[in-house]
Amino acid sequence: MPNLTFYDLHPPLENFREDVITGLSATPKAISPKFFYDQHGSRLFDRITELPEYYQTRTEISIIREHGMEMALLLGEHSLLLELGSGSSKKIRLLLDALRPAIYMPIDISREHLRESAQILAKHSPGLEIHAVCADYSNDFELPYYPESMPKAAFFPGSSIGNFEPPLAQALLQRTAKLLGAGGALLIGVDLIKSTGVLNAAYNDSQGVTADFNLNLLTRINRELNADFDLSSFEHHAFYNEKPGRIEMHLRSKIPQSVKVAGESFNFSMRETIHTENSYKYTLEQFQQLAISAGFKSERVWRDTEKLFSVHCLRVE
Ligand SMILES: C[S@@+](CC[C@H](N)C(=O)[O-])C[C@H]1O[C@@H](n2cnc3c(N)ncnc32)[C@H](O)[C@@H]1O
Repeated sequence: MPNLTFYDLHPPLENFREDVITGLSATPKAISPKFFYDQHGSRLFDRITELPEYYQTRTEISIIREHGMEMALLLGEHSLLLELGSGSSKKIRLLLDALRPAIYMPIDISREHLRESAQILAKHSPGLEIHAVCADYSNDFELPYYPESMPKAAFFPGSSIGNFEPPLAQALLQRTAKLLGAGGALLIGVDLIKSTGVLNAAYNDSQGVTADFNLNLLTRINRELNADFDLSSFEHHAFYNEKPGRIEMHLRSKIPQSVKVAGESFNFSMRETIHTENSYKYTLEQFQQLAISAGFKSERVWRDTEKLFSVHCLRVE
């Protein structure tokens, strides 16, 4: 595809092995949610976005549809437009006509899914120059292509910022501000604090897709790290933890058992869990404070009438 360049900065398998061994050796056991996203995990996530209980995607899309022109004006045309955790690159399509970026740079850890999504977009928009980067944005990394003088803007939808503990979210926003440079704008989707019932339902859908997404992590570990997790002896467990203001996802052992991963043994007591994801929820003010502490000023914020979800335009000071 002449308008698509692909850069593979995917972290080596050794990093996955080290992170899983360290996470399973810790108390409590924990593994980063970034490892959910092998190709099957990305497909399952796309199914989650279509579930009736998962209000986030359709609400964020409705906000972007309603205010897209204003968002595009604030972000500015002809920029190097970065997207963090671009997934299927569906939301950015709502903004591309108005934004007319010089270059679109989707960044995602899920290599095959990114490749496919970028190819589909490149075919659909032959006039758009795409530089797709497979990389882990939770660590510092150098962009493989960075035209210094071009204005920069970024899009970070899906409330993926909520997967980071606030100090790590602040560090990621700081790194993003540095990439954008003074005056650069970031359009970011942030899920809002709301009733516990709505939140719990969103992560415990009746079709069990979120459970499959969570359990797919064990399938991936079995395949890539030569492990012997028995999926039928673990279950999905997700709940809103009000004090820190976050949904927690866990994989809970139904029985006492021992599991082998990359030649090492790990014991689980009955009901012991592996903590696999946090999804922090914010008030508008809490998120604005976090953004300010990371070097941004809050320029504009939109939310839906039910106050379920917010989209912020932040500018690097
Ligand atoms: C919650 S999904 C959101 C997808 C899409 N942006 C949306 O709003 O529907 C998170 C996306 O970020 C990617 N991702 C997760 N952790 C990442 C990391 N550390 N570095 C790069 N991409 C990551 C996943 O592969 C996935 O596509």
